Amino acid sequence: MNARVPILIAHVALIGAIVSVGCDPNPPFVGRPAGAPADAIVFLITGYTNGNIEPCNCPGQPRGGLSRRKPLVDSLRPGGGEVFLLDNGNSVLLTPEPVADQYIWAGLGRLGYDAMAVGDQELDRGPAFFADAARAAGLPLVATNVRFVDRQKTPLGPTHRLIERGGRQVLVLSVVGPGAMHFATPQVRQEIEVLAPARAVADTLNGLRADWRARRPDAIVVLAVLDPTERDAAVAAMPSDVDLVVLSTERDRDVKAEKIGAMPVVFAPAMGRQVAAAEFRPGPGGRMRLSRAVGHPVEQMLPRDRKLWELYQSYTYDAQQRSLRLLGKAGGVKLIPSAQCGQCHAAQYQAWRKTKHGQAWATIVREGRTADPECMRCHTTGFGYQGGFRTAADAPSLADVGCQNCHQVDLGNMPPKRRVAVSEMTCRGCHTEPKSPKFEIAVYGPKVTCPKGRAVAATTRPLE
Ligand code: HEC
Ligand code: HEC
Ligand code: HEC
Ligand code: HEC
Repeated sequence: MNARVPILIAHVALIGAIVSVGCDPNPPFVGRPAGAPADAIVFLITGYTNGNIEPCNCPGQPRGGLSRRKPLVDSLRPGGGEVFLLDNGNSVLLTPEPVADQYIWAGLGRLGYDAMAVGDQELDRGPAFFADAARAAGLPLVATNVRFVDRQKTPLGPTHRLIERGGRQVLVLSVVGPGAMHFATPQVRQEIEVLAPARAVADTLNGLRADWRARRPDAIVVLAVLDPTERDAAVAAMPSDVDLVVLSTERDRDVKAEKIGAMPVVFAPAMGRQVAAAEFRPGPGGRMRLSRAVGHPVEQMLPRDRKLWELYQSYTYDAQQRSLRLLGKAGGVKLIPSAQCGQCHAAQYQAWRKTKHGQAWATIVREGRTADPECMRCHTTGFGYQGGFRTAADAPSLADVGCQNCHQVDLGNMPPKRRVAVSEMTCRGCHTEPKSPKFEIAVYGPKVTCPKGRAVAATTRPLE
């Protein structure tokens, strides 16, 4: 009955989205942050992008996206001093998503990084990652402590990068902690070997030291993806030649210059919300030292980089095509509009309508993201499944988080032969840590649990 409204709004929003993309004049970024002094070295640092080509704007999600990261980085480059762009790894999602992987690498390629760490989430993809996709995108990956088990223990990629610019020389290494690789498949574990991080850094530096007689690099940075349980010990064991260890985190924390023992550290901002700027200035004896670190938020009002925004549009199209191809392979219960359940469960239907679940698609319309498959997974019913939501045009009634997202019941089996309680696990499928950071079953549960309501209407007519 109210099925028509969403279609109409969806079309209007789609047209709106196309028009606004087409006309995006890509204005220059104004309000450039104050530059660093001319004698400084500045490392711009990102990390744990975690597959977020563009953010969803869910609570707790990044505000930026790659298309806004680029203008921010560009605006920070021409400050004073020499600027180097580093990424602390884990740019792809934990679970392999071939389409998303390919696009995120292409997107990062456009940002012009000087060096990128290999996180555990990249390693999970296996060595093919290095051979194919990353190389195709030209990403400057560094992996100091990962080797192939076969092939004479060849390093997985370059063990270090020496970058020279504007008379400055910086050396970048990258380690992943064995403990960070919780999810690596047995196959990956057979193919690669992870060496003790500090040892591998020391060995690499020893190998390079002969070249430093003429000149030591101005700054030596180690990008590190370490599990919190192994972090402090690994940092403490780093050789004293190291000037900065960049650490990874999955959560927001203030970007600032910190120390673990005597070692200067900076936590790379997570989820693409910020770009950190770690500034080095000449210290006692002329050696460059970390002087300060600040986080620059990737704000929503930043203009988008046109090429990256177009790349994102192609990504959503490709991802949708792929989902459609996979459709026939999924199975499960026959999905029906929630309104149809409501014919027998009127009280539950009326109550559901008033919850956010009953209005979840309106949010996507408001955000102008009705063509984005990434949003459909949690804001509709059965996206990617046989008979599930495909587009608002051909299945408007499966928009929203419908009854069957929680009750996986079949109409042919109504009343259900056995009661399947809705468990917290059901909620967690969508109320993930990044999308719903405040989720607690004791708080959220009572807000959406269906009312007992009146007795189910006696309907003998079989519904199809
Ligand atoms: C033809 C009428 C009819 C339709 C349509 C229908 N149901 Fe039911 N449903 C029933 C009846 C009758 C019962 C048993 C009621 C009872 O035990 O009080 C029942 C029971 C249930 C229960 C279990 C209640 C419990 O106490 O365990 C759930 C959950 C449920 N239905 C969900 C749904 C969902 C979701 C849909 C839509 C996919 C749906 N129903 C569609 C008639 C219907
Ligand atoms: C299919 C995905 C999905 C499932 C399963 C799901 N939710 Fe949600 N939930 C959402 C989405 C999406 C929203 C936000 C809707 C909007 O505002 O657009 C939401 C919103 C909510 C809200 C409202 C939060 C607010 O800001 O007011 C509560 C409460 C909630 N869910 C509780 C639950 C509970 C409890 C469960 C399990 C019984 C559950 N959800 C299962 C996707 C889901
Ligand atoms: C993994 C599931 C999931 C995906 C994918 C997802 N969302 Fe959400 N979204 C949620 C949940 C759960 C909430 C409710 C969070 C809460 O209130 O705790 C939510 C809430 C929101 C809100 C806040 C709604 C409000 O009422 O304030 C917006 C906006 C939103 N989502 C937009 C999007 C967009 C746009 C996309 C696609 C890029 C998307 N979401 C993809 C699960 C998801
Ligand atoms: C966010 C998850 C969620 C959604 C969406 C949802 N329900 Fe429920 N429903 C519950 C929970 C939790 C209960 C409590 C009983 C249980 O654990 O199964 C429940 C109970 C029920 C019951 C049993 C009687 C009762 O009130 O306790 C029926 C019938 C029912 N729901 C029907 C529906 C229908 C019809 C829709 C769609 C209009 C719907 N539900 C949508 C979570 C949900």
